[in-house]
Amino acid sequence: MKTIVTGSYAESSRILADMFECVMRTVEEPLLGLSTGSTPLGMYQCLTEDYSRGLIDFSHVHTINLDEYVGLPRSHSQSFGYYMDKHLFSKVNLLPENTLLIDGVGEPEAQCRRYNEFLSQSPMDILVLGIGNNGHIGFNEPDDAFCASTHVVELADDTICANARFFERIEDVPRHAITMGMAGITQAREVVLIATGMAKAKAIGALLADDKIDPRLPCSILKVCQNATILIDKDLADYIQ
Ligand code: F6R
Repeated sequence: MKTIVTGSYAESSRILADMFECVMRTVEEPLLGLSTGSTPLGMYQCLTEDYSRGLIDFSHVHTINLDEYVGLPRSHSQSFGYYMDKHLFSKVNLLPENTLLIDGVGEPEAQCRRYNEFLSQSPMDILVLGIGNNGHIGFNEPDDAFCASTHVVELADDTICANARFFERIEDVPRHAITMGMAGITQAREVVLIATGMAKAKAIGALLADDKIDPRLPCSILKVCQNATILIDKDLADYIQ
């Protein structure tokens, strides 16, 4: 696992977009692993701007998203499907049939099975991860053990509080989600975790502090990946030391 400290969040986003664009240019039919939340927004902005300038093409690209809230349809403004439509899919020439998402109102077991079958055939070429304040990746929350495959998870109180900012009332935040598990995540050929903001300092500090892999700090599983990068900006790095 390597760490890159950049000058700013904007620079981190640019570097991350360049990593994705490199895969899009060099792999014949790349599979991009995508996440949502505030942190990857800068990367999506770089990608959509580069597409409108004619610098990149998505017609041969496939995508898979990490997770989705249980109970929210794609038309709900806080579903991750809606987020992807808004920030990427509606702005580039990705073919809808090449985008794989969890259906928040589909039958959960069937959704998990579909994801696990897909991932067993097709590892991701590159995956972007954000990180929860509690160290979660995807919605793999701190627990006694890691879950390997795609599964239904009960969201941690920390996560519900952190994500309440996107909803009118904290009671509106779904209590469950479906998330890709650690097998799918660690099989990606390249994993990039981007973090910014002081709220992430505790989790990133603990991740970088030692060589341990601890299910109470889910992001620590990235230490088993062949090619994992932690991308943080100087403000966050200064706060850790
Ligand atoms: C979202 C996801 C989550 C977020 C994390 C950080 O698809 O998988 O793990 O990456 O909760 O969210 P932000 O970036 O909003 O702080």
